[in-house]
Amino acid sequence: MLTQEENEMLTRVGPGTPAGELLRRYWLPVGVASELTAENPTQVVRILGETLVLFMDKSGNVGLLEDRCPHRGVSLSYGRVEQRGIACAYHGWLYDTKGNCLETPAEPCESKFHLTVKQKAYPVQKLVGLYWAYMGPLPAPLIANFDIWFRQDGRRKIFIQPQLDANWFQPMENSMDPAHLQILHQNTAARGREIADSTRGLTDDVAEFDFYEVPYGGLMKRRTYKNGMIDEHPVLFPNILRQGNVGQIRVPMDDTHTKVYFVRFYPTENGELVENDEPPVEYLKSYKNPPDALHPFTRFRMDLVQSQDHMAWETQGPICDRTQERLTSSDRGVILLREVMFREMKKVQQGLDPIGVVRDPANNPFIDTHLLESIKLGDYDRSPLAVNQ
Ligand code: FES
Ligand SMILES: [Fe+2]
Repeated sequence: MLTQEENEMLTRVGPGTPAGELLRRYWLPVGVASELTAENPTQVVRILGETLVLFMDKSGNVGLLEDRCPHRGVSLSYGRVEQRGIACAYHGWLYDTKGNCLETPAEPCESKFHLTVKQKAYPVQKLVGLYWAYMGPLPAPLIANFDIWFRQDGRRKIFIQPQLDANWFQPMENSMDPAHLQILHQNTAARGREIADSTRGLTDDVAEFDFYEVPYGGLMKRRTYKNGMIDEHPVLFPNILRQGNVGQIRVPMDDTHTKVYFVRFYPTENGELVENDEPPVEYLKSYKNPPDALHPFTRFRMDLVQSQDHMAWETQGPICDRTQERLTSSDRGVILLREVMFREMKKVQQGLDPIGVVRDPANNPFIDTHLLESIKLGDYDRSPLAVNQ
């Protein structure tokens, strides 16, 4: 059980909040690269409690600016892109991708007023078919050399999950909660096996759970089954779950909404290298009906692993009230994750880099959890995307 103050620390993501400042030390996806085109060159991005505009100017430069025009507050997402940037639709103030104001066309020609205007701008880079932004203090670090993003011997596919109308830390705690698989997901995990007792589900398959930190800035949850099989899912701190060949990225939009990207890696059969991997994108349909309502005014389908998880995450509440919980021994992973969060938030407050922040290209080790997974993981828990079809 946490105090209200501790719960706020884990869950609030806006500028100046402890978790918000921690999350701003990592590159985060802000959009699907293929969505930004000459026909649709702007889109609104809601991330970490900020409303931003992602745009591609006519020179092909991609920028991420605060959406609110500093003149009189109109959304820049309705702006016209030009050779040198984006011009506000209202009075044409023109901004480049660095946030410099280049023109204020309604002012007299000799006016230098535009030189006094600076719009908030964040660096953007493209990786695995997504645009990623860094919203923290400069200089920006590197993106960790995670095999799912950087392996060349295969192709990737992006799955955009339906918007999660809940706080980001609920799916992260779920990632450190192995016991729910054998119960919440028992029907899909059973793969046709008869389940004698649906209260216990497949719990009796498991010998033990272990949780520990790993050196690349992650946390591991490990299930050891009675038949000797071992199943490990690392969390790449703070917001990525690795499951099989899928990196599940949870990006807080604000305190009560989360965008979830899955990047799945498909290795080539013979190890052949793939050039110019342009991942296709699949948009998954809402798991609830009606799709834009909150519990108890909507109902989740319960026949898919992901919809079962979304049910669990959303019905905990827009922000789970952790002053009212009863943690037990199987919640040790959840407790570890919270301890690591509190420790790392404190480091950020002291001006230090949190775990997993990489700055030296010569010291950005290749994080390959795939080998470990493929050797140890049986067939037990391989269904999460298959069931999305
Ligand atoms: S509100 Fe943007 S230029 Fe006036
Ligand atoms: Fe789950």
